[in-house]
Amino acid sequence: MIVIAGGTGTLGTRLVPRLAAQGLAVRVLTRDPARAAHLAGTGVEVARGDVRDPRSVADALDGAGTIVSAITGFAGPGRVSPSSVDRVGNAGLINAAARAGAAFVLVSVVGAAPDHPIGLFRAKHASEEMLRASGLAWTIVRATAFMETWGAIMGRMLQTSGTILVFGRGDNPVNFVSAADVAALTGRAVTDPGLHGQVLELGGPDNLTLNQVAAIVLETAGRRGAVRHIPRPALHAMALLTAGIRPALARQARAALAMDSLDMTFDPAPGRQAFPGLPDTDLLSALKQLQP
Ligand SMILES: NC(=O)c1ccc[n+]([C@@H]2O[C@H](COP(=O)([O-])OP(=O)(O)OC[C@H]3O[C@@H](n4cnc5c(N)ncnc54)[C@H](OP(=O)(O)O)[C@@H]3O)[C@@H](O)[C@H]2O)c1
Repeated sequence: MIVIAGGTGTLGTRLVPRLAAQGLAVRVLTRDPARAAHLAGTGVEVARGDVRDPRSVADALDGAGTIVSAITGFAGPGRVSPSSVDRVGNAGLINAAARAGAAFVLVSVVGAAPDHPIGLFRAKHASEEMLRASGLAWTIVRATAFMETWGAIMGRMLQTSGTILVFGRGDNPVNFVSAADVAALTGRAVTDPGLHGQVLELGGPDNLTLNQVAAIVLETAGRRGAVRHIPRPALHAMALLTAGIRPALARQARAALAMDSLDMTFDPAPGRQAFPGLPDTDLLSALKQLQP
């Protein structure tokens, strides 16, 4: 049995059908089974659990041969945070896998490091380290920013306000990869024991600025013009003023400042050469797939 925590997310919804189509037994762990309603009748099991409460996931992990962690608490419902989900939640899953003797596939981020300015990247590093020390059969899949996540965020802004808000100057190049490509690589990590003990890094074909991404989102939507920026000083103020009352917003402001200035480029060639059959989706194609 392959248990996928995060099977309802951007990556997970692309990974689950891929594994199920291979005839593998798959169970999705979610806090809210309604988020997995699309899986009814597919043969994929759905189990309720919150990784912040290890007791609540014990039943969901029963009989697991492989556990995939595609969870994140960077954003989303339920007062989540990188600390409680990506760090502590993953620790609970790794401990459960150790008790069950299950293999573990951890989805992480390119650039995960103990001193990274973005808290999520520090939390991912901590869970990577814990996994390496666990004695389990493990594989880590690190990805750059998902095209679908950013495309959906900008697309929603455009729909609701007619404007795309870019946090910061938006002129720093960032590597974007399609979640579909990452799902394909994660699927291989699940099914190929030859990849145990390896860290696989995947990026997409282009390093693009957020201004360029916004322009492509506008083009795909057939719209002109409407891009506005939140200047860096406003982001600094937002990070400070909202820290106590809206921690998720403060976190986003801090991450946006880092993303606006750090080197977020990535050379995808080595990863692509190691896995030649993987899809290599570009932003325009990924955005077209998102359209209803
Ligand atoms: N998005 C990106 O740009 C990006 C880039 C690189 C790497 N990654 C990594 O790729 C993986 C998937 O990311 P994503 O963007 O697909 O995630 P996402 O769409 O934001 O979905 C988050 C997932 O985490 C689950 N989750 C959150 N808190 C949970 C909790 N307390 N207990 C149980 N499940 C919980 C959610 O499940 P329910 O809501 O159903 O409970 C959901 O399936 C993550 O590890 C992420 O760090 C993402």
